[in-house]
Amino acid sequence: MTHFAGAFPSTRMRRNRRDAWNRALVAENALTPSDLIWPIFLTEGTGQKDEVHSMPGVFRVSPDMAAEHVAEAVSLGITAVALFPYTPMEHRDEDGTGALEADNITCRAARLLKAAHPGLGLIGDVALDTYTTHGHDGVLRDGQVHNEETVERLIIQAVNMARAGVDVVAPSDMMDGRIGTIRAALDAEGLIHTRIMSYAAKYASGFYAPFRDAVGSPTNANRPVLSDKKTYQMDPANTDEALREVALDLAEGADMVMVKPGLPYLDVLHRVRREFGAPTFVYQVSGEYSMLMAAVERGWLDHDRAMMESLMCFKRAGANGILTYFAVKAARLLKAG
Ligand code: PBG
Repeated sequence: MTHFAGAFPSTRMRRNRRDAWNRALVAENALTPSDLIWPIFLTEGTGQKDEVHSMPGVFRVSPDMAAEHVAEAVSLGITAVALFPYTPMEHRDEDGTGALEADNITCRAARLLKAAHPGLGLIGDVALDTYTTHGHDGVLRDGQVHNEETVERLIIQAVNMARAGVDVVAPSDMMDGRIGTIRAALDAEGLIHTRIMSYAAKYASGFYAPFRDAVGSPTNANRPVLSDKKTYQMDPANTDEALREVALDLAEGADMVMVKPGLPYLDVLHRVRREFGAPTFVYQVSGEYSMLMAAVERGWLDHDRAMMESLMCFKRAGANGILTYFAVKAARLLKAG
């Protein structure tokens, strides 16, 4: 008691933490439903809704179910959904030709979603991996993903999506030069308002494994070739390189840029936002979701706390928005206060 008499520092950091109103008053960042983008998985058929085995609480829905599936998200104020098609192996081929069809599942779902929810932003995934037998993001020539031949296909995929009502095309393929080429193609088609969200700093990550389950891509376990997206996705060792990627994509006309994965790459997110001040997004990927859910299922983590903390950390690190499978669950909590 007497140790500090008269000598205690007058600044007490704990004063501002004492009451909930005070903590709210001094909070430096806020999370709102408009920060959230919800990735959803599409599957063929009608009346389909199945849970993704490795992602509890995440579903694949058929196009006819999509509008109803997102209705709650819309009413909660979620800004946009990102569409990903599940393609079973028997409907895939070496070159991923399904990606180029103007009436593929993404385009059909986009038309239905736009009609039902005109105010909801639609983001379409531009890459071939959800249609290729080998699961690579482009076409293989001599054992390598061929850059230009892949980009030629991405252009067609992007234009088709935009025509179907996708507002934002999001190339997730990591080919060189694709942003500028896609921009030019969209403009040439008069699609000047279609935005491009570039997966600019996308790492060759082990945290995508449950996503590959969700979209029907071969996994590392059954097709070891997939361990190698390292010839086009970034090395987790690098951050300066991420800044070069972002600089190039912005120069080529990207309207928004993304860092992916999320939590293990907060330093990259922070640097990208600081350096460029461009609309910056982060993808809390499937493996991050599944890790948290697995710990929750074992009773090792509290679902709501772990979810909200992870999302707030993205805001603190500089994200303008977050792609997260937690979007609806988080928006519900935000609404409940
Ligand atoms: C591929 C793509 C991937 C994801 C989004 N687009 C997987 C990959 O690059 O292998 C991963 C998303 C997630 O894990 O949630 N174009």
